[in-house]
Amino acid sequence: NTDQQITLRIMRGDVKGQQEASEFHVPYAPGMVVLDAIRWVQEHEAPDLAVRWNCKAAHCGSCGAEVNGRPRLLCKTRVDEFQSQPFTVAPMKAFPLIKDLVTDVSWNYEVAKTIPPFKPAHPAPFIMQQEDIERVKEFHKCIECFLCQDTCHVLREHQQFGKYYGPRFMTLIASYEMHPMDVGDRLDLLHGDAGVGMCNVTGCCTEVCPQGIHITANAIIPLKERVADRYYDPLKKWLYNRKKKR
Ligand code: SF4
Ligand code: F3S
Ligand code: FES
Repeated sequence: NTDQQITLRIMRGDVKGQQEASEFHVPYAPGMVVLDAIRWVQEHEAPDLAVRWNCKAAHCGSCGAEVNGRPRLLCKTRVDEFQSQPFTVAPMKAFPLIKDLVTDVSWNYEVAKTIPPFKPAHPAPFIMQQEDIERVKEFHKCIECFLCQDTCHVLREHQQFGKYYGPRFMTLIASYEMHPMDVGDRLDLLHGDAGVGMCNVTGCCTEVCPQGIHITANAIIPLKERVADRYYDPLKKWLYNRKKKR
């Protein structure tokens, strides 16, 4: 029914103060998403409400926040999912708050700079198989919404930003490492600063990924295996160290 109103609570705050919930009543329109409701609030009730978004099509990855405590894209979350019950929208908890629903995700961009980029074998040594393409294609679907980063307890609860790069960067590293033409080597990084060992495979990151990337099964576990092969298989470790010394 189009005369219906929806009730949403938005957690508001800034770098200095406490966060506080403000309640708003917004006219319902069929098919509306949480971002529509927030934009209505901006237009009619709170012009200074801060929210980050660009595409409204689940492509740009800007509108990541938490709806009823769950990391979601605001533009992909339909309000009818809440069946006329009030719901709460809050900023991502893992990252420092800038204002209202906007957090400072710049740490992620700094991390990205430390990852050695794709390094193609030259000349390309072989013909690629379709399954090799499919394997890395999955990782390329990432829209960098950082919802997986927000979910991972290593970053969210334990704030181990100096020790673990987080699931998003495990998929990025996997996209290079598993590419048949890549000759780069990121296993030392994974074992060291990127901290793949910090992940205890809870799989929560995979559950929230709006792109359906199987982060844990297809990126993290195979990377952990590669690291284990190099550092914990006595023969491979010895061969690797010998090669490194030359
Ligand atoms: Fe977002 Fe998924 Fe990429 Fe993580 S892996 S940043 S959840 S699209
Ligand atoms: Fe974190 Fe995902 Fe591992 S939630 S602990 S990165 S499986
Ligand atoms: Fe682009 Fe939501 S606004 S992903």
